[in-house]
Formats: sequence, structure tokens, C-alpha cells
Amino acid sequence: MAADIMYTIHFYVLFVLSTLRCSSSFIGNGENYRRNLSLELNPGLNSLLTPLPPGVGLLHVRALGKNNTLHYLLCSQGAPALLLVHTNSTSSKVKVDWPAFLVQNTTGSLKLTPESSVLYSNALVFTRLWEYDDVNDTAVPEHLPPSSFFQPYELQNFTWDDLNKTLDPMAHTALLCGRGASESFSNGSLCLKFSAFDVEGRDQGWPSLLHNANSSQLRVVLDGVVPRSNRSRFSLELQVVGGTQAMSRVDVLQSIDDEYTPSIFKVSQWVSSPVNSTSPVLGYAQWKPVAYRRPSPLFEDATPCRHSTPVPVAQLPPSGLVRAYFGGERQTTGLNMTFSITGDPFYNTTNYLSWTVLVGLGSPPVDSFSPLVLVIMAVGLGTPMLIILLGGVCVCVRKNRPQPQVYEPIN
Ligand SMILES: *[C@@H]1O[C@H](CO)[C@@H](O)[C@H](O)[C@H]1NC(C)=O
Ligand SMILES: *[C@@H]1O[C@H](CO)[C@@H](O)[C@H](O)[C@H]1NC(C)=O
Ligand SMILES: *[C@@H]1O[C@H](CO)[C@@H](O)[C@H](O)[C@H]1NC(C)=O
Ligand SMILES: *[C@@H]1O[C@H](CO)[C@@H](O)[C@H](O)[C@H]1NC(C)=O
Ligand SMILES: *[C@@H]1O[C@H](CO)[C@@H](O)[C@H](O)[C@H]1NC(C)=O
Ligand SMILES: *[C@@H]1O[C@H](CO)[C@@H](O)[C@H](O)[C@H]1NC(C)=O
Ligand SMILES: *[C@@H]1O[C@H](CO)[C@@H](O)[C@H](O)[C@H]1NC(C)=O
Ligand SMILES: *[C@@H]1O[C@H](CO)[C@@H](O)[C@H](O)[C@H]1NC(C)=O
Ligand SMILES: *[C@@H]1O[C@H](CO)[C@@H](O)[C@H](O)[C@H]1NC(C)=O
Ligand SMILES: *[C@@H]1O[C@H](CO)[C@@H](O)[C@H](O)[C@H]1NC(C)=O
Ligand SMILES: *[C@@H]1O[C@H](CO)[C@@H](O)[C@H](O)[C@H]1NC(C)=O
Ligand SMILES: *[C@@H]1O[C@H](CO)[C@@H](O)[C@H](O)[C@H]1NC(C)=O
Repeated sequence: MAADIMYTIHFYVLFVLSTLRCSSSFIGNGENYRRNLSLELNPGLNSLLTPLPPGVGLLHVRALGKNNTLHYLLCSQGAPALLLVHTNSTSSKVKVDWPAFLVQNTTGSLKLTPESSVLYSNALVFTRLWEYDDVNDTAVPEHLPPSSFFQPYELQNFTWDDLNKTLDPMAHTALLCGRGASESFSNGSLCLKFSAFDVEGRDQGWPSLLHNANSSQLRVVLDGVVPRSNRSRFSLELQVVGGTQAMSRVDVLQSIDDEYTPSIFKVSQWVSSPVNSTSPVLGYAQWKPVAYRRPSPLFEDATPCRHSTPVPVAQLPPSGLVRAYFGGERQTTGLNMTFSITGDPFYNTTNYLSWTVLVGLGSPPVDSFSPLVLVIMAVGLGTPMLIILLGGVCVCVRKNRPQPQVYEPIN
């Protein structure tokens, strides 16, 4: 018995210790891959020789690793697009033939040199904003008749602000805001907040996605747009164009910890990987299925969102960057991200929506249990076990004790 108790306590202590050790490795960032970031606007442009048309900007972020480089290119010529290129060289460079790039019909007017160093490339393009009149509050646009849809906002026709004004080279961020030509955008905008990361971490604001040195983030904010009906809801159409492997499927992973994104127990990742998934994921777009209805959201401002199944798209998306870099015949896949579900307030209640997506190389980051949750689990699981065992032991000890004689034997 005593040996059993000792054994149980020993086990419990080991469990708590190993959890603590495990969690401190999370605190200390088990993954400490680091990159050196540098930002430049419109690389190689001589604006005297080639004046930029208004609203066109090309942000280049160079994320230098020990023996490889990640290049992020964010471009507002046509539909806004983020291109990610991974090279196995530390001296790869972006080369833009600006006159050809601006005409938008020349493949190869933007390239990474030396071209043989390119290992992986993929572009995410924001093509359209759909608005529909959800009269029956179903929030499933796929099941609605075409008459429920308003004419979509083509993001290629938006007027985009100058990236130069919003660039923050120290924080590695930039804000790209655009407006449609219609009345609805007279006081409103669609903005993409871009952040590049040099090391693992987490954003302050919800959904607080975990990022690492191989990822960058885009937060889409639809602010102050006048909806075309009182019961309007929105969907955002996204398209990806891949170099070698198209991003063909969306995996939805479950989690039992929602500490960083309250009430959200899922993470979705649109991955580029071969059909037979034995080989690793090459690149991804990852998001939590949630949007927020206020800039500084409270719990009740969260609204779930849902993606449609990715489908092949016949044409390249209308992005100057994609045409210049990929051109020709490339696999394009698209999906719609639908914000809100049945019963949730319509857009008119706050006139605000924000949704965040992480774009990166390699396997998507995986949320691990926070140290707090691990300790709670250790105490929560360990304590009852200890009590049960100690209780059992006490009962046994009592039973085995010699019973006092209550009755005198009758002669
Ligand atoms: C990043 O820059 C620092 C200081 O400039 C340097 O010590 C370090 O080696 C660089 N790291 C990489 C991966 O280039
Ligand atoms: C780059 O460095 C990593 C470790 O930092 C190593 O595993 C890999 O083989 C290196 N690649 C090349 C091409 O040197
Ligand atoms: C691209 O457009 C320019 C001017 O619009 C035209 O002169 C040129 O022939 C076009 N090039 C291709 C390859 O279509
Ligand atoms: C980079 O990759 C290319 C193509 O895969 C290969 O030919 C080249 O040798 C690689 N360079 C280095 C430095 O690993
Ligand atoms: C809304 O519901 C009514 C009654 O069920 C139906 O007749 C109508 O077609 C629905 N409208 C839409 C756009 O689904
Ligand atoms: C958007 O621009 C394209 C190309 O310039 C044009 O064909 C299309 O009609 C425009 N769409 C809208 C809704 O303005
Ligand atoms: C950005 O703006 C600053 C000052 O407003 C100017 O000096 C700089 O040349 C601009 N850069 C580009 C790339 O346009
Ligand atoms: C935009 O804001 C101005 C001033 O706040 C207001 O007068 C105008 O009516 C607004 N426009 C729309 C379409 O809401
Ligand atoms: C980032 O990519 C590099 C190069 O492929 C790889 O060595 C490293 O482990 C990756 N780091 C993370 C955090 O995924
Ligand atoms: C939004 O639309 C709903 C449904 O038609 C309506 O009841 C509500 O008053 C509207 N809210 C605002 C702020 O306009
Ligand atoms: C994937 O696996 C299936 C069956 O396991 C096989 O028939 C198919 O050829 C594989 N495809 C590739 C691209 O390896
Ligand atoms: C997005 O939704 C609209 C409206 O239902 C549809 O016409 C379009 O084909 C969808 N796009 C994709 C990529 O599924």
C-alpha cells in the first residue's frame, strides 16, 4: 500500500514537472528561427523615367534567412495580391522591368534572379467583394437565387491609396486602402493591413494568430461601407495562383484550447501539397473561421465565417503582379469566404468587418496549449486522481485493521 501511494505521488509530481518543462519550452519559443527583414517600395523604379499611375504601388519585403530568402511582394496594380517567393540563395533579387510591368501584358516583367534559385512561389489575390440581400437570414449565399446578389465590387477597379504614406519599415507593416467608384464607398473603404514577421509571435488583437519567421499576415477590414440593403451580408472571393503545386484543398483542424481566440475551436488552412499527402505542405493560407464586427472587439462582436470548397478558375486573376510574374497557363483556384451565420446581426449594425489570414511557407504554425492551460490540466487531472487513490488507500487500511470485539461470546 505505502509503495502504491509513493508511486502515485511520484507519478503526479513527474506529470506536473514535465508539463511545466514542456510549457516553458513554449514560453521560450521552441522554434526560434529568425529572419532579417528589409522593406522597399517600388524596387528599381526611376520615377522620373517611369511615372507611376495613381494607386499603383509595389511593396517588396526581403526576409533573409541563413541560407535562403523569402520575398513578399504586395501589389495594388489591379486586384490586390500578395506574392510569396522562396529562394535557396541569400542574394536573390527582385527585377522589375517597370515600363513593361505597367502595361500589364508581359510575362517576366517581374522576376526573381537568379531564376534557378526559386524553390517555391505562390500568390494570393483578393478578387471580388460580393454583397447579397439575406432576406431569409440563411447566410448561405450558395443557396440563394442570383437575384439576391448585388453587383459584386471588382477589387481590380478600386482606387488604392499610396503605400508610401502607410509604410512602417520598423514595424514591418503597411496599410493598403481602396475604394470603389460607387456611392457606397464615399465614406468607407476596404483595407488590407500587411505585416511581415521576423520571428515567432502572436498579434495582440483577436484572432491572435500564431505566426513565425516564414509567414506574413493580411488583415482585411471593410469599414464604413453603406450596405445596399438592410439585410446585407458580404463574401470575399480569394484566388491563388501557384508555381508548382496549386493550393487545392482546405484542411480544417480542431483544437480544444480557445484561449487566444475565444470561442473558436477550429483553424482552417488552404494548403499547397500533392494529392497524396505523405509529402509535406509547401505553403499555405491559414485563418480562424471568425470575423469581428468592431475595431476593438468584445466577445459578442465575433461572427463565425465559412469558406466554400476551392474550385479551379479558368482565368488568371486580374492582378498586374500575377500577370507579370506567372503569366501564361497557371493553375488558379478560388474560394469565397462568407462572413456571418444565421441569426447574427447584419452588416448595417456596425458597418464594420475584419478578418485575418496568415500566408506562409512550409507547414502552417500549430497552436499549442498555453502554459496556463497545461498547468490547469495537470492540477485538474492530477488532483482528483490523487484524492481517489488516497481515499481508496484509507478505506483499505481501515478494513484491514483488526475489528474490535463488540459482543461477548455467549457461553
Ligand atoms: C541579421 O542581422 C544581424 C545584425 O545585422 C546579423 O548579426 C545576423 O547574422 C543576420 N542574420 C541573418 C540570418 O542574416
Ligand atoms: C540550410 O540550412 C539548414 C539548417 O539551417 C540546412 O538544414 C539545409 O541543408 C541548408 N540548405 C542548404 C542548401 O545549404
Ligand atoms: C502589350 O501592350 C502594348 C500596348 O498596349 C502593345 O504594344 C504590345 O504589343 C502588347 N504586348 C503583348 C505581348 O501583348
Ligand atoms: C538551389 O536550387 C536549385 C534548383 O533546385 C539548384 O539547382 C541549386 O543548386 C540550388 N542552390 C543551392 C545553393 O543550394
Ligand atoms: C424566403 O422564404 C420564402 C418563404 O419560405 C420563399 O418563398 C423565398 O423564396 C425565400 N427567398 C429567398 C431569397 O430565398
Ligand atoms: C472593371 O474593370 C474592368 C477592366 O478595366 C472592366 O472591364 C469592368 O467593366 C469593370 N467593372 C466594373 C464593375 O466597373
Ligand atoms: C515616399 O515619400 C517620401 C516623402 O513623402 C519621398 O521622399 C519618397 O521618395 C517616397 N518614396 C517612394 C518610393 O515613392
Ligand atoms: C459621408 O459623410 C459625410 C459627412 O460625415 C455625410 O455628410 C455624408 O452623407 C456621408 N455619405 C454617405 C454616403 O453616407
Ligand atoms: C522556415 O523555413 C526555413 C527554410 O525552409 C526552415 O529551415 C525553417 O525551419 C522554417 N522555420 C519555421 C518556423 O517554419
Ligand atoms: C439594419 O437592418 C435591420 C433589418 O432590416 C433593421 O431592423 C435595423 O433597424 C437596421 N439597423 C440600422 C442601424 O440601420
Ligand atoms: C496517389 O495515391 C493513389 C492511391 O493511393 C495512386 O493511385 C495515385 O497514383 C497517387 N498519385 C500520385 C500523384 O502519386
Ligand atoms: C463566389 O460566389 C459567387 C456568388 O455566389 C459566385 O458567383 C462565384 O463563382 C464564387 N466564386 C468562387 C471562387 O467560388
